[in-house]
Amino acid sequence: MIIVVDFGSQTTHLIGRRLREIGVINQIVDPENISDHIQDKNLKGIILSGGPGDAYKEDALTVDRSIFNLNIPVLGICYGQQVIAQVLGGGVTPGKKKEFGPAELRITQDSPLFDFCHIEKFNVWMNHGDEVSSLPHGFTTIGKTDTIPYAAIADEERKLYGIQFHPEVVHTQFGLDILKNFARICALEPKDQPMTTEFIEGLIADIKESVGGAQVIGALSGGVDSSIACLMVHRAMGDQFTPVYIDSGLMREGETDELQKVFKQNYDMEVKIVHAEKQFLDNLKGVTDPEQKRKIIGKTFIDVLQEEADKKDATFLVQGTIYPDVIESAGTKHAKNIKSHHNVGGLPKDMKVMLLEPLRNFYKDEVRTIGTLLKLPKEITHRHPFPGPGLAIRIIGDVTQSKLEILRRADTIVTTEIHHAGLDEKLWQVFAIYTGIKTTGVRGDNRAYGETIALRAVESLDVMSSNFAKLPWDLLEKISVRIVTEVTEVNRVVYDITNKPPGTVEWE
Ligand code: XMP
Repeated sequence: MIIVVDFGSQTTHLIGRRLREIGVINQIVDPENISDHIQDKNLKGIILSGGPGDAYKEDALTVDRSIFNLNIPVLGICYGQQVIAQVLGGGVTPGKKKEFGPAELRITQDSPLFDFCHIEKFNVWMNHGDEVSSLPHGFTTIGKTDTIPYAAIADEERKLYGIQFHPEVVHTQFGLDILKNFARICALEPKDQPMTTEFIEGLIADIKESVGGAQVIGALSGGVDSSIACLMVHRAMGDQFTPVYIDSGLMREGETDELQKVFKQNYDMEVKIVHAEKQFLDNLKGVTDPEQKRKIIGKTFIDVLQEEADKKDATFLVQGTIYPDVIESAGTKHAKNIKSHHNVGGLPKDMKVMLLEPLRNFYKDEVRTIGTLLKLPKEITHRHPFPGPGLAIRIIGDVTQSKLEILRRADTIVTTEIHHAGLDEKLWQVFAIYTGIKTTGVRGDNRAYGETIALRAVESLDVMSSNFAKLPWDLLEKISVRIVTEVTEVNRVVYDITNKPPGTVEWE
């Protein structure tokens, strides 16, 4: 087993997942609890994760020096590398430049960590402000970038390694190979582990066992995650399960009817539709702060669901929470809150129903694989994600019926044109945003003062990071012309060219 010490990085869990993918048993532990694990005879390696802290500060999260003398290999990633340097007598300082994004790593010395092919340089992904400024005794540099002299360091004799970049994210070339090599350094034999039907049947059996004879209701939004979570529970529980779809009035055009039809036709699943449009809009009246909006929406969802649960005498509530929702809502001890995903951060403490979240440990691409193995059609498994708080977080400022209508009409044009261009599968998500900015324009020889709609189209694999899509100009022009012509309240369309990080996918 390898333990992954969690200093609060957004991607700690991803390290665990990558290790799982190469068949390495691992456990994520908080730095305070390392001592509970180091006596374990099965412990073969330690990975120190990244994290938001500054390793040189007095109150920084750290590890005891003794863990480096156990004769167990250690790999420090980002903040983890800085912890190694700090604890073993090297230096850590704020970098000259904060780096969020790609960099090119040049291998400067042979190392078993980089023993994957005969290349001299490869692309890595950076996400840091601080950096190692001097090496601890016994260490040498094994890789550099243009900006970082100690981007990869090693004490080969003691099998201690530190890398400033993140091997766990998909856009670090050879990232998985680096983790495989570290496993080999730990005397483990990595092997690729595909997700299988048996594994999923096991998850369904787990649901059945944990629920027993209780009644279950499910929060079905029609998105990939909640659809797959609800279908798993439907498979496990049959009539004991009632999927509930709350029409919050914050959905896309035609969403409610479509959803009811798809589930009835394909799965003979009766979805209960609850109309709560007025309740949501009343609660959101005048609210402009994004976090407050998210929390209000989360609370309203839960209130409505709790009412439905009471009617059914349900003990469990199914939610399609997936791992990025948990991590971005600071669901692990040392992670910082980026956004309160409505199905995690906004839940009240006194909820009466118990949550059943079968997908809580998985990333979106894993969820899609689960769906495919469950023989769900592509129209569900490859649907673009839609956020729980809906169009409310795509309207900057307060949410009103008239803004929702403008946004819906613009959004339908965007999604229709992307669909016609055959780009649905290439994109992770595509949508319109009501920016709340009015600008001057000209219409039929008259001055116009109208709304600005922004377009967002992103490509991603696991949404911890994503790139804006380089859509063809002709297509962007077609969308823009259609919006300003057909949605007359709008006289300007802009395209968002920000990657994540630093931008998030949704604007709020
Ligand atoms: P961000 O904006 O955090 O979005 O980069 C990452 C992915 O999550 C979706 N998203 C949400 N999904 N509840 C959800 O179920 C939420 O509150 C929420 N906020 C963002 C977003 O659409 C993207 O796919």
